[in-house]
Amino acid sequence: MKITDFQLNKKNHNKIVMVTCYDAASAAIIEKTQIDCILVGDSVAMAVHGYPDTTHATMEMMVLHTSSVARRIKTRFIVADMPFLSYRHSLSDTMHNVQRLMQAGAHGIKLEGSKGNLDSIKHIIESGIPVMGHLGLTPQAIHQLGGNKVQGKTKELAQQIITQAKQLQDAGVFSLVLECIPSHLAQEITEMLTIPTIGIGAGAQTDGQVLVFHDLLGLQTEFTPKFLKRYSCAHDQFINALDNYADEVKNLKFPDPKQHCYL
Ligand code: KIV
Repeated sequence: MKITDFQLNKKNHNKIVMVTCYDAASAAIIEKTQIDCILVGDSVAMAVHGYPDTTHATMEMMVLHTSSVARRIKTRFIVADMPFLSYRHSLSDTMHNVQRLMQAGAHGIKLEGSKGNLDSIKHIIESGIPVMGHLGLTPQAIHQLGGNKVQGKTKELAQQIITQAKQLQDAGVFSLVLECIPSHLAQEITEMLTIPTIGIGAGAQTDGQVLVFHDLLGLQTEFTPKFLKRYSCAHDQFINALDNYADEVKNLKFPDPKQHCYL
């Protein structure tokens, strides 16, 4: 998938399928699937590094994981998240951080919110870098939002998200993530915008969907929001496999001299 395919998919009513990815082994698996595009999300701070929220993601983390993914991804569009506050200090720092992610192998970057970001977004886009927006639940603002809550539930708050979505489109973002907002609001925004929306907890009417790799595969079992569907129970399968291995070593069944040993 190329950048131009995002618009084309919206026009042709083809749903866009995005998944997060943080490492080369998972990227190699994704390359063999029908997934359209990849997000090296700042959710890596939680999924891989065990932090409680995404405010712990750093530029070092994002560059390391983006380069790891990019070494195995040959045919999919890679978006890398700008981590917590990495686009809020100065334009010069922002551009330096964008450069690091692009040189690590990203094809575009994503950043959260619109307030105070529009000038930076325009400058990044004028510099030739595709930018994906992110509205609704913006997890980097978790301490201001008071937790992982559905956003835009009142008429006023919904209107704010609609206005911000329009502002982001006018600033030139190529696509917009809508996270944890009521389905009817996501539908209204999706119909209003000419750019595709990618939803997570935003209903079925968005132009695409994104889920976290570890959540959809059931690698982790603690995070159970209503919007999440698990397509595998990898957590249990991994435990079974590891216990089989431990059992076979302890009971002298592995390694088998005929199959796994050098003569
Ligand atoms: O980092 C992430 O996983 C994300 C998705 C929730 C969209 O930003």
